[in-house]
Amino acid sequence: MRITILTLFPEMYDSFINTSIIKRAINKNRIEIECINIRDFTKDKHNHVDDTPYGGGAGMLMQIQPVLDCLNSCRNENSYVILTAPIGKIFKQKIAREISKHEHIIIICGHYEGIDARINKYVDEIISIGDYVLTGGELASMVISDAIIRITDGVILEQSHEDESFENGLLEYPQYTKPYDYNGDVVPDVLLSGHHENIRKFRLSESLKITKENRPDLLEKREFTKEELDILSNL
Ligand code: ADE
Repeated sequence: MRITILTLFPEMYDSFINTSIIKRAINKNRIEIECINIRDFTKDKHNHVDDTPYGGGAGMLMQIQPVLDCLNSCRNENSYVILTAPIGKIFKQKIAREISKHEHIIIICGHYEGIDARINKYVDEIISIGDYVLTGGELASMVISDAIIRITDGVILEQSHEDESFENGLLEYPQYTKPYDYNGDVVPDVLLSGHHENIRKFRLSESLKITKENRPDLLEKREFTKEELDILSNL
């Protein structure tokens, strides 16, 4: 998979690309990430890429010309083009799975007050990472890229995805590692029992409990097995 990021601030990606799992995925040739500086495409003699909004209002808007020329320089028939903006669809694990099927993903990052709205018809999808406004789409593009990269084949163990939060419509159960006893706070004994069926039941019950407490909206959308309904009725 190849991810191309169109931004005015490519330097923001230096540590993202050079750290931990993302760095390893690049070194193993599982993914390729390139950043293109939108400013390199401006035709303005002072290198400006923004201007004031028609109709008035605060702040500056990115102009369509450098953004579109930048997009046209890297898009091909296999590219899937995403624009990051607060007006977009809220990003979810399911959307990450859909996007990860494309072999070339282009993410356009708006900055300042965003981009001239005429850009919208050149993109496949507009995505927001949450109901808040960032200074630019760069952090959003890293969030989206990170979520896509970690579910790309060969980046992390396939097994790691199975019980993960959101994969089965529930939040993940709590996990523990050594030491067994930390200042008197001990790991639940069932996890040391070696009894796989009891461990599965314990984890399912904990998943349901934490989802009910923190994200009851997820439970409203989900269908339950008989076992899950029995657990829920006792919570
Ligand atoms: N740009 C500014 N705010 C944003 C958000 N919440 N999601 C995606 N892009 C953004």
